[in-house]
Amino acid sequence: MTHKQRNILVTSALPYANGPIHLGHLVEYIQTDVWARFQRLRGNTCYYVCADDAHGTPIMLRARQDGITPEELIAATQKEHEADFADFHIDFDNYYTTHSEENREFASSIYLKLKEEGHIKTETIKQAYDPEAEMFLPDRFIKGTCPKCGADDQYGDNCEVCGATYDPTELKNPVSAVSGATPIEKDSEQYFFKLSDFSDMLQQWLIEDGHVQSEIANKQKELFEDGLRDWDISRNAPYWGFEIPGAPGKYFYVWMDAPMGYMASFKNLCDKTAASEKPIDFDAYWSTDSKNELYHFIGKDIARFHTLFWPAVLDGAGYRKPTGVFCHGFLTVNGQKMSKSRGTFIKARTYLEHLNPEYLRYYYTAKLSSSVDDIDLNLEDFMQRVNSDLVGKVVNIASRCAGFITKKFDNQLSAELPEADLYNEIVAAGELIAQHYENREYNKAVREIMAQADKANVYIDENKPWVLIKEEGREQEVQKICTQGLNMFRLLMTYLKPILPATAKKAETFLNTELTWGNISEPLLAHTINKFKPLLTRIEKEQLDAITEASTENMPTTENKPASGPLADDPIADEISFDDFAKIDLRIARIVKAEHVEGADKLLQLTLDLDGQTKKVFAGIKSAYKPEDLEGKLTVMVANLAPRKMRFGLSEGMVLAAGPGGKDLFILNPDDGAVPGMKVK
Ligand code: MSP
Ligand code: ZN
Repeated sequence: MTHKQRNILVTSALPYANGPIHLGHLVEYIQTDVWARFQRLRGNTCYYVCADDAHGTPIMLRARQDGITPEELIAATQKEHEADFADFHIDFDNYYTTHSEENREFASSIYLKLKEEGHIKTETIKQAYDPEAEMFLPDRFIKGTCPKCGADDQYGDNCEVCGATYDPTELKNPVSAVSGATPIEKDSEQYFFKLSDFSDMLQQWLIEDGHVQSEIANKQKELFEDGLRDWDISRNAPYWGFEIPGAPGKYFYVWMDAPMGYMASFKNLCDKTAASEKPIDFDAYWSTDSKNELYHFIGKDIARFHTLFWPAVLDGAGYRKPTGVFCHGFLTVNGQKMSKSRGTFIKARTYLEHLNPEYLRYYYTAKLSSSVDDIDLNLEDFMQRVNSDLVGKVVNIASRCAGFITKKFDNQLSAELPEADLYNEIVAAGELIAQHYENREYNKAVREIMAQADKANVYIDENKPWVLIKEEGREQEVQKICTQGLNMFRLLMTYLKPILPATAKKAETFLNTELTWGNISEPLLAHTINKFKPLLTRIEKEQLDAITEASTENMPTTENKPASGPLADDPIADEISFDDFAKIDLRIARIVKAEHVEGADKLLQLTLDLDGQTKKVFAGIKSAYKPEDLEGKLTVMVANLAPRKMRFGLSEGMVLAAGPGGKDLFILNPDDGAVPGMKVK
């Protein structure tokens, strides 16, 4: 096995410094850490740096709310983040902050270089301004009615109901989330990065050269067709961030200096090693003629920043571009978005209070691939998988063999392997496993490792050392069988070391050897081991329940909260004012016609009569009603809902129904006496 030693720098996205690390974040940090540890285990140099993302309006407002300075908030958060990461065995070479002198230096020098090269322009634009809070409002701090579907309480940049994206100025009935005031429009001069200058370069980099997954590249393709929009990189005071050189009162938008935080953290690491035996050379990793590899691990939600803006900024400022940007999907828990009311919004710290971090490292790894698909943490499956794979298969090999070696053979392994072929087979599987790790096909790597573990267990089952030991004159055989077993265990633990660093460390103590990939073809023979201590214990259901319990936020409405049933599944929503309710015009309507919709498997088209006026609506109730059962019935409809264009035509309102779905859907019927057109209030 001769391969050239590689020099690699990897990063994970920088978590925002205004909230705790949760199990969603950890998908990324575990994915990156496993990759970095794998590279090191293979003898490559791999630095892993990260930092807190410490700037932006949410952090400014959060600090204000808590009555502390932003500096205090970000310092406290960083401390918590670092402790969480350390306890999950995330092995950063450096963890820093974007609010650092190094980063200020990069932000300003990169900006000045871009300006010098003609990639910065200014333009006066209208922006939402909160006259009460006296500040310009970022999109996320304006809420209002979606201009496309009419859904209330939507953010200024996109609608969570229909998925539309738009400008905050298009939002209907906008209010400031900071003060509740109606925003006004105010002219302001902003600084733009001319992303359009980099269109050709980016198309080449993204699409031709394949530096990102094809799923992501394909998505960005559409943007090129429409022409790349220039990017507003400035924000007006008050803002928490770095002031733009030569532009008093203007600050860099947080997403401008955040990715530079990768460089700043690495620079900080280089400076720390300057006086050491092995100083790290910053330029060797970031100059355009760098031969070293650079990879960013990120979630799919921030792909645009990392696959368009960031490579363009680097290119424009005379730095190298990433070798690859690796996107992963989102975490769901028990098949659903993490939810505080369901107790599935689990903080890293809450998990750590109840369970071994390596269980989660194993489970995520067993599910992760190189695709951007979401991954699900199903708690029941999590428990079973960890218990059967790690405890039942891997650790079991050692615990079944270790006792005999210690008690009967004074901790000595035999001088030869009884089944060298079997051992060599498991050694040979190592190359495939390594390939899977390298390609971030961790699920395949884990599957392969477990297939080898199965072989090892079959070997022990068939050779039954616990039976032989009772037969006279067969002691030597037992020593050999157990030596074979422990050597196979050593291989499996080497392969699992990137995932289970702490257990691997215990295994190293037990086996009295360092687990490295380079020497696996040499079995441990005539070697002294140490006394075996239990490596991992089973997950108990109670531990999972305790985590869910501790993660369930007590909503004001949950005092008499049932353990299951409609209210537990879907708790009562946030309180609204009477005015909010009065906006909804509910009317009695008669279903005069109900028809199947060609090509739609869930919808029926209903023609509703409201005292002479007819409205056609689509209703997702086909699974529960036959058209002929509906015709003639009275029901309740939202009569003033903005018409919505659907694939099958226009829907002019909606009828009300209750129930979880499928056969269990129940439309509302008014009591006798109600007639079409009557207002429901
Ligand atoms: N601060 C920015 C990143 C700046 S990088 C120069 C940010 N921070 S974040 O805290 O919101 O997210 C950090 C990383 O965690 C992102 O890559 C994000 O995709 C990932 N995740 C956050 N929640 C997640 C899940 N529920 N599931 C999987 N990954 C998730 O974005
Ligand atoms: Zn909408």
